[in-house]
Amino acid sequence: MTRKIIIDTDPGQDDAVAILLALASPEDVEVLGITAVAGNVPLPLTEKNARIVCELAGKPDTRVFAGCDAPLARKLVTAEHVHGKTGLDGPQLADPTMPLQPQHAVDFIIETVRSHPEKTITLCPLGPLTNVATALQRAPDIAPRLQEIVLMGGAYFEVGNITPAAEFNIFVDPEAADIVFRAGVPLVVMPLDVTHKALTTAPHVQGFRDMGTEPGRMVAEWTDFFERFDKEKYGSAGAPLHDPCVIAYLIRPELFQGRHINVEIELTGTYTTGMTVADWWRVSGRAPNAMFMGDIDAEGFFGLLTERIARL
Ligand code: BDR
Ligand code: CA
Repeated sequence: MTRKIIIDTDPGQDDAVAILLALASPEDVEVLGITAVAGNVPLPLTEKNARIVCELAGKPDTRVFAGCDAPLARKLVTAEHVHGKTGLDGPQLADPTMPLQPQHAVDFIIETVRSHPEKTITLCPLGPLTNVATALQRAPDIAPRLQEIVLMGGAYFEVGNITPAAEFNIFVDPEAADIVFRAGVPLVVMPLDVTHKALTTAPHVQGFRDMGTEPGRMVAEWTDFFERFDKEKYGSAGAPLHDPCVIAYLIRPELFQGRHINVEIELTGTYTTGMTVADWWRVSGRAPNAMFMGDIDAEGFFGLLTERIARL
C-alpha cells in the first residue's frame, strides 16, 4: 500500500538523495509535502535546496514549506564543513523557479495530520527535530493520529559524529528530539550504526554517472563532494548515505534489522549532550519507545537506490 508521507529535511546532499528516492517511488510513497528546517545550513538555504531537488526530479508541483529557523532552546549549529557553503555543494545548481508555499511548515504538518484519517500519515524527519517537536507541542492531538515517525538520527555503537558522543541531527536540537522520543508515536530510528554501513563505493557512484540523466549525474557529483570529508575522517572507502535509509525503509523494510528498545536523549551531559542513550542490551528496565535499527543489507539498499534514481 502507498504510504502518505511528509519529509522533514535540511538538504544536505544525502537529504537530496532521499528526496529523489521518494519522488521516484510513487507506488510506495506519496509525498504530501516537504517541510524544511534549519540544520546542515540555515533555513533560507534548506528550503531553497528542497525546491532545487524537486525540480531536478521533474516534480515542481511538490509542495515545499519553510519551518523553524532555530532549535527550540539553543543556538543553531550547522555543518558547512561537511556539506559546503550552500548545503548542496558539488555540482553547479540553478536557482529554483517553483514557489515556496506560504504556510508555515509546522501548521502544514498539524493541518495535514488532522485532516487525514487516523494512522495514515508517516513523518520522515531527516534533520534536527525542531519542526516535528513544535508540531507535537502545539497540537498534542496529532500524536495518536500518526501512523509512524521514521527518522535518521542518533547512534549507539558508532557513538557520535558532531561530538564524540552525539550524532548531528539529535545534537542540534536535543530538546526537540526528547519531545519526539517521548511522544508515544511508533518510532523507527536509523542511527549512524546503520548509515555508516550504507557506504558508497566507486562502482555505485559510476553507476549513477552512467545513467546519463541529470539526476544520476547530480547524485554522483554530490557523493563525490561529501565523500572527501568522510574518507578523511573515517578512512572509509566511501560516504555514508544517511538519509536515504529512511525512505528505503518505507519501500523495503526487510533491508533493515534492529531492536525495539528504550532510547533516551541526553540533555544535560557535560560531554554527552545530544547522545541517544539506547538500551540495546535491555538493562535499564525502561519501556521500549523506538525500533532502533542496527543493520542494513547495503547491496540491497544500493540496488534499490540505483533502480529508482534511474527512473528520474
Ligand atoms: C545527519 O546529519 C546531516 O549532516 C545529514 O544530512 C544526516 O541527516 C547525519 O548525522
Ligand atoms: Ca539531513
